[in-house]
Amino acid sequence: MTSTYRINYQLRQHKRDGLIEFIKLTLSTSFVLYDEAADADISPPNADEKSALIRSKERYAEVMSGVEKLINDHIEMQKLGEPEHSRLHRLVPTVSTFCTPLPLRKAFLLADAQHTISARRFVSPSFNDIRRILNTAQVCAIAPTLNLITFDGDMTLYDDGKDFEQDSALVILIIQLLSFNINVAVVTAAGYTEDAESRYESRLSGLLHGFQLSDLTNAQLGRFHVLGGECNYLFQLGDDYHLHFVPQEVYQPEQVRAWSQNTTEIDAVLDIAQANIEKCVQEMNLPAMVIRKTKAVGLVPQPGVTILREILDEVVLSTQHHLLRYQRSPSVLQAPLPFCCFNGGSDVWVDIGNKLIGVQMLQAYLNAKPEETLHVGDQFLSTGNDYATRASCCTLWIINPQETQEALVQLTDILEKQK
Ligand code: IMP
Ligand code: MG
Repeated sequence: MTSTYRINYQLRQHKRDGLIEFIKLTLSTSFVLYDEAADADISPPNADEKSALIRSKERYAEVMSGVEKLINDHIEMQKLGEPEHSRLHRLVPTVSTFCTPLPLRKAFLLADAQHTISARRFVSPSFNDIRRILNTAQVCAIAPTLNLITFDGDMTLYDDGKDFEQDSALVILIIQLLSFNINVAVVTAAGYTEDAESRYESRLSGLLHGFQLSDLTNAQLGRFHVLGGECNYLFQLGDDYHLHFVPQEVYQPEQVRAWSQNTTEIDAVLDIAQANIEKCVQEMNLPAMVIRKTKAVGLVPQPGVTILREILDEVVLSTQHHLLRYQRSPSVLQAPLPFCCFNGGSDVWVDIGNKLIGVQMLQAYLNAKPEETLHVGDQFLSTGNDYATRASCCTLWIINPQETQEALVQLTDILEKQK
């Protein structure tokens, strides 16, 4: 459902992750069928109850081993160029590409030791339990070969619309990643055209301050990049601890430069998006402003107002519909312009370009293969802007900066042991 240049959100009927739902359903069979301690009273667990807990854990672990094998088989079919013939694909038709195997049994046992999933008799393994297990498995799998880690900004590194705080635990963790000579990039939708360096510097102020206090070498500092506007504006950290604009010709392939400079077509796409967003504002009487930039147009709620997720999704899906209809019309002769229309949690944006192109350009520029690249983000539902990266790298789906921190603690622990 993703292509390099277009993300067709509308093909998805519901906004669930197929693989997570499949694992949840498979685990729930054990949960439903085997409640061996159903009649237990509230006295401390006896020997029988203790062995029932061990069997419960083993059954869940078996399921995770089974899914792990399905993924390995799917990877084999990917290598043969026919992933659609894998058993996993038949069971989960929306399944994406796997850039590494996933040690799910090991990840489950780690999660179970922490969150005692198998000891629960009233609450079955949840969507979030499985999302976190997949994250742990991905961290374990990629640690030995990690070359490039990309982070979404809002809700991944800092709260929505906020700046990177000096006292954020992520400062030291990101410094640690750079100290392992790993390339680190923030790949954010936020696109600033005027005074861009200082706008990004102020969003990342806490992190940049941390860099100044660190022992990072100049080469390590130079491995930190910021890619703004999904894939449109690249900055590199200098040894003066400031961000420096990297000219497009240095890192953009010819094909990307062709559309990114086509201002006529960019304006045509943004005009259609803007017209639909304005219509939504009028029809649904939304307390919101429409903001137009060179390569983006957005709907932003008035200060202090929250707009319901369903309404934001309606704006996303209707705008997507009109843009795709325009791009398929006979009058559009050239290759369609890539765009990303997404629900940012509290606002809606249509950006020219998307994070898939962003990650792919960084991979080519920094010489990182898909199986050596990890993207961490919060918007992996079908109306989110991190979703697109899945086609080209490994991913961690987190829901807030606290979870980013937990994932980085796991990752840096492994990197430390590997040293
Ligand atoms: P991300 O989570 O780092 O990708 O940032 C997404 C958020 O950046 C959006 O939800 C907006 O609140 C904000 N933003 C600011 N400027 C832009 C823009 O030009 N395009 C898209 N999002 C923007
Ligand atoms: Mg985000």
